[in-house]
Amino acid sequence: MSALFTPFTLKDVTLRNRIAVPPMCQYMAEDGFANDWHQAHYTSLARGGAGLVIVEATGVSPEGRITPGCLGLWNDAQAEGLARIAAAIRAAGAVPGIQIGHAGRKASANRPWEGDDHIAAGDPRGWETISPSAIAFSDTLPRVPRAMTPADIARLRADFAAAARRARDAGFAWLELHFAHGYLGQSFFSVHANRREDAYGGDLAGRSRFLFETLEAVRAEWPEHLPLTARFGVLEYDGRDEETLAEAITVTRGFKARGLDFLSVSMGFSTPEARIPWSTPGFMAPIAQRVREEAGLPVGSAWGFHTPQLAEQAVAQGQLDLAMVGRAFLANPHWAYEAARTLGVEKAAWVLPAAYAHWLERYRPVA
Ligand SMILES: Cc1cc2nc3c(=O)[nH]c(=O)nc-3n(C[C@H](O)[C@H](O)[C@H](O)COP(=O)(O)O)c2cc1C
Repeated sequence: MSALFTPFTLKDVTLRNRIAVPPMCQYMAEDGFANDWHQAHYTSLARGGAGLVIVEATGVSPEGRITPGCLGLWNDAQAEGLARIAAAIRAAGAVPGIQIGHAGRKASANRPWEGDDHIAAGDPRGWETISPSAIAFSDTLPRVPRAMTPADIARLRADFAAAARRARDAGFAWLELHFAHGYLGQSFFSVHANRREDAYGGDLAGRSRFLFETLEAVRAEWPEHLPLTARFGVLEYDGRDEETLAEAITVTRGFKARGLDFLSVSMGFSTPEARIPWSTPGFMAPIAQRVREEAGLPVGSAWGFHTPQLAEQAVAQGQLDLAMVGRAFLANPHWAYEAARTLGVEKAAWVLPAAYAHWLERYRPVA
């Protein structure tokens, strides 16, 4: 009996298994609009057997995109294209999710294969960036952001709420707020990025205020019966991890009290000085387990669950409720099907959408 292939129910949503594809930017949009690439890509991930497919970081406002090729959800026309993608994911048997966010001081960047750095000052493709404080991220992302005013903060809260409403109306059943990876939400929490002296900085209550207010604004728009989730960087691997993790667990309890249903446990990426243990397979699993136990929320995590055995083990041992499998799914959209076969799941083809599984078993009985 495989733990990975056991269904998972949260609120009114049931995933057919514990495999989730985490959000992964495609950098293929124009003016924030989804196109045929996104349609084909997300459909294939769902058809390949994942239980949950989360659409990439989608900007709640134009300046919230990471690159000019990132998706947006700041107008209703953009939502129409995303509605077709949500429907296709659902038709292929997976639950459609979407991550909404704002890239903060890491916005206005070139696509990875075009440099992964900030668009040069003066280049009309770039734009002004905003962040809690006027501190640049690094030498490769050197653009100095404008420190947000109280009016900016109020506007962003409203932008997140409006994007959540559009995601709901577009048919997504799982919403993930992007509070990770050095983008805007993470930057409010991070001592590396937030040096504000007003109510939105300083002590933990100050540094979590933007996150809590944004969550509350979204909670008011997102249906009670559907999972409301966040991705949160709970440590930085910067040498002060115990302190950051303890703070992050306190904040996660605050999320739960405000109606969050699930946390995708990730890293902060708020400092270029981080020393991440890349060579340790599944290194986030014990961290996620700690958040799960101490904050009392179901969790998922990514970062290196590339083999079915590793994903199975993390779920079976109660470290993760969902294993998030990213790059391995880009390389092989049928990763879940292959995993079922590797783990000896009887009738592995059943992880695939019913019609496809039927023909596969009838004419080429490989499962
Ligand atoms: C091409 C690419 C794009 C990504 N875009 C996002 C994103 O939009 N939002 C996000 O939270 N993480 C993003 N990530 C991180 C992934 O969600 C995931 O955490 C990471 O790939 C590690 O998991 P893996 O080892 O299974 O690939 C991206 C990763 C890749 C490779």
